[in-house]
Amino acid sequence: MAQASEVHSAVQQRYGAIAESRAQSCCSSDCCASNVQLYDAALVSDLPIEVTSLSLGCGDPVTIAGLQPGETVLDLGSGGGIDCFLAAKQVGETGYVIGVDMTPAMLERANAHKQRMGVTNVEFRRGQIEELPVVANSIDVVMSNCVINLSPVKPAVFAEVFRVLKPGGRAAISDIVTEGEFDAALQADLNQWSECVTGAIDAAAYTGLMTAAGFTKVVVVDKAEAEDIVERKPGMPRIFSARITARKPA
Ligand SMILES: C[S@@+](CC[C@H](N)C(=O)[O-])C[C@H]1O[C@@H](n2cnc3c(N)ncnc32)[C@H](O)[C@@H]1O
Repeated sequence: MAQASEVHSAVQQRYGAIAESRAQSCCSSDCCASNVQLYDAALVSDLPIEVTSLSLGCGDPVTIAGLQPGETVLDLGSGGGIDCFLAAKQVGETGYVIGVDMTPAMLERANAHKQRMGVTNVEFRRGQIEELPVVANSIDVVMSNCVINLSPVKPAVFAEVFRVLKPGGRAAISDIVTEGEFDAALQADLNQWSECVTGAIDAAAYTGLMTAAGFTKVVVVDKAEAEDIVERKPGMPRIFSARITARKPA
């Protein structure tokens, strides 16, 4: 596998380029390749096209999060902000949503969307999900959508999610997972890693890392073949989009 810093920079380059290209073109109509169809149409119907066309997730973590008014939510790898804006509506003005992303151009897009929508209970912070710029024991719900597979140090991500959650807090994650592992050569392919393919790990290994970090009630809510989301080439293990929930013990 490549060095963690090499993975981070390849991933940042890919998502920076996507954010910049979507800012310059195409967002006056729904012509961008977006994954917004993975949400229930009614849930996303009042979001502006700029936000829906920059939806790069692999599922809908918001619906399985069961958000309540007044809750504080953290979204790992918030991208253009789609899940933050959906969460902001559900937690209301007494709640608060923090999105963390390491890619400056993506944060710029997210902040432009926030301004355009006039949302006041969302904040976007620059940072890495392996070292979150968030105070310990301060978050009710951590969400993430198609991001943890991109991390070269997944145990650090789950340790950080555990640290920032309040006791009794919960995680609601949508991510790419596999059945079996990619071989070392595929894992070293930074292009395919950045495309949310070869950084993905076996589903049981993924939930095992969560349990090792201290989470209880780790549940794979659903898991479906991800052929519409990522390209599976010959020799690769089966690839799934899964939604996973877990709790930090009270
Ligand atoms: C596939 S996109 C998903 C964006 C968003 N969650 C969505 O559903 O549209 C991945 C995002 O995660 C960010 N990202 C990837 N690895 C990260 C890391 N280690 N730390 C912080 N952000 C990361 C990227 O910059 C990018 O914006």
